Amino acid sequence: MQNKIQDIDWALSKLKKSNRGKEWQKTVDDVFDETTLRNIQQLFNRGVFGTIENMIATGKEANLFRAKTFDGRNRAVKIYRLNTATFRKLNPYIEGDPRFRNIGNSPRDRVFTWAQKEYKNLYAMKAAGAEVPQPFHVYKNIVVMQYMGWRYRPYPPVRELPPQDPMDFLDQLIESIKAYRSKNLSHGDLSEYNILNVREKPYIIDVGQAVPKGHPMYDELHKRDMKNMYRYWKKQIRELEKEVFD
Ligand SMILES: Nc1ncnc2c1ncn2[C@@H]1O[C@H](COP(=O)(O)OP(=O)(O)O)[C@@H](O)[C@H]1O
Ligand SMILES: [Mg+2]
Repeated sequence: MQNKIQDIDWALSKLKKSNRGKEWQKTVDDVFDETTLRNIQQLFNRGVFGTIENMIATGKEANLFRAKTFDGRNRAVKIYRLNTATFRKLNPYIEGDPRFRNIGNSPRDRVFTWAQKEYKNLYAMKAAGAEVPQPFHVYKNIVVMQYMGWRYRPYPPVRELPPQDPMDFLDQLIESIKAYRSKNLSHGDLSEYNILNVREKPYIIDVGQAVPKGHPMYDELHKRDMKNMYRYWKKQIRELEKEVFD
């Protein structure tokens, strides 16, 4: 027992050594509060991963890290921050989701529910045949999934690296969209930022806000997604017809 805290220090030591200045330090301190450290400890004890290697991204509600398992495999670890008020933003997506009737009362519990929701959405989409990162684990505010990257660099979103053959790429993307639609899900935040260009294969990410049929925003969210997709892909493919996204 007495080694536990040392273990977690060690697990984070690489990350902490890579200090990149004040802003960076603040971000790291922000996400690793006491509860989160305990939750990481728990994942560590369960053998889900062994070390956290580097920070991939800082988003509005979550930070992304690359972690390594004890046998050296990469994992993407999405940690939702517990010290923000942005959980309010999450509410409309959780409320009305029949899968989560018991959403918890405290802001913290709601963030935990949100992480559960992202995990479930990833799982359902993957099972449907959509290309999304494989989910491995969820615990409290932490989602562990397949790492889409090479060494320390994640594959870029199409926003940063548009595909070489947009028509072929889009065909594959539409297959993924059809796959999760067949399981009655709407993504809800589909954009050029949330589609990774994985060696010219599209991977859809950021599925926390996805909702199932029966949710009051189910249709509206999908319509908005398709509108965004048309707007983006029309710029890549001039002869693209609107009907592709019906
Ligand atoms: N499974 C993953 N593998 C590698 N990088 C990822 C993975 N998931 C997310 N990322 C990186 O982290 C960034 C933010 O992730 P995302 O899930 O979109 O969170 P946010 O809600 O902050 O937008 C992405 O743009 C991508 O660069
Ligand atoms: Mg995103």
